[in-house]
Amino acid sequence: MQNILNTPFQFSCGATFKNRVVKAAMTERLCHSDHLPNKQHIQLYNHWSRNGAAMLLSGNIMVDRRYLESTGNVVVEKDTSIEAFKKWTSTVSKYDCHFWAQISHAGRQSSKFSTRKSVSASDVQLKKMGLFSRPTPLTEIGIEDVINRFVHTAEFCKKAGFTGVQFHAAHGYLLNQFLSPLTNKRSDKWGGSLDNRARILYYIIDKSRKKLGSAFPISVKLNSADFQRGGFDEEDSKRVIKALEERGIDLLEISGGTYEQSAMMGIGMKESTRSREAYFLEFASNLRRECQIPLMVTGGFRSLVASEAALQKNELDVIGYARPFLMSDRFPMGFLDGTCDKVEEPIINILDPKNKDAAEAGFYDLQIERIANNKPLKHNYPGWQVALHLPKKEMRMGFRNWLLR
Ligand SMILES: Cc1cc2nc3c(=O)[nH]c(=O)nc-3n(C[C@H](O)[C@H](O)[C@H](O)COP(=O)(O)O)c2cc1C
Repeated sequence: MQNILNTPFQFSCGATFKNRVVKAAMTERLCHSDHLPNKQHIQLYNHWSRNGAAMLLSGNIMVDRRYLESTGNVVVEKDTSIEAFKKWTSTVSKYDCHFWAQISHAGRQSSKFSTRKSVSASDVQLKKMGLFSRPTPLTEIGIEDVINRFVHTAEFCKKAGFTGVQFHAAHGYLLNQFLSPLTNKRSDKWGGSLDNRARILYYIIDKSRKKLGSAFPISVKLNSADFQRGGFDEEDSKRVIKALEERGIDLLEISGGTYEQSAMMGIGMKESTRSREAYFLEFASNLRRECQIPLMVTGGFRSLVASEAALQKNELDVIGYARPFLMSDRFPMGFLDGTCDKVEEPIINILDPKNKDAAEAGFYDLQIERIANNKPLKHNYPGWQVALHLPKKEMRMGFRNWLLR
């Protein structure tokens, strides 16, 4: 019997995926101070695109170099040269693989390593390890500027050879900060009711669609919920999804959580949810009854059995995998050719359980660096190395960027 993961998926806009496997976005943190894709990006995506996925999502591509998610982010601004991006996308297109750009603004989740003063919907500070400043609420002109930057980046990415774009409205980044009543305290047309809080996202989609045309895939990554009392919840999410459907987006990716509650990584989720593998599948399968947008669900998938079951039950259309691409050098080829039915979770040495998410982030960033440097993945790093890797790296690169500014 043919493995259902290997069946193609056709979008109504005309795009086709050769199978149901997508590499979800993972920030690369590989740029020099010019914030352009370089040889390491090419090596990384060359490796991933050879292994059989239908589509790779880039890591966060930021719309404003002042508000980064990492000091090593790729950035697109008005004066950005397109040549390096063309080289990056042509690496992937060689392998009959889609390459979509994830477009993002960190808002208050921009750390002090890259930003002295962040911006957000309101001045609600993210309190985490003392790393984040109290944000300045965006003015009306500031919001217009953010919208134009998202649209410009989307157009730029299309010209550069990406075959689709995704707007990142999940995980507590700026668009999610507007959506959540905990971080959006505004009383103007950008705050208050859900329609007002979602307005920035809707404007970005509508304006981008006009520029990109109906045949170019537009996706949104959205939280099923923020998993915080008083935050963006499942009911809000369903209502926003209805509006996204009316706007004709091509693919909805469901995730969940923010920097304060890392549900997207399975942290803080009930053990029963984690052991069922897919963290957000229950929400997705309920959604399925009410929504026709092609659906991607990301978070927790580790076995072929669980992946196939979700597809058989028609709970989703494509599966997003992120960390599995950093657990095995061959993923997802083994799933697709039937030679592997499970990726093994690595054992991550965690020195301080309170900072488990930071240690995990350090571990996976070390894995990304290995692939980008053409080295095989490693499965064991000392606890001190995973704990210190990202703070050291961000500090070093932040200092370098500041010197070269
Ligand atoms: C190293 C790393 C970097 C990530 N960077 C991003 C990112 O840039 N954008 C994003 O939407 N999600 C990002 N994520 C979250 C993943 O896309 C995904 O939602 C999450 O890892 C859960 O999927 P998984 O269980 O298959 O890993 C990142 C995850 C990891 C491990």
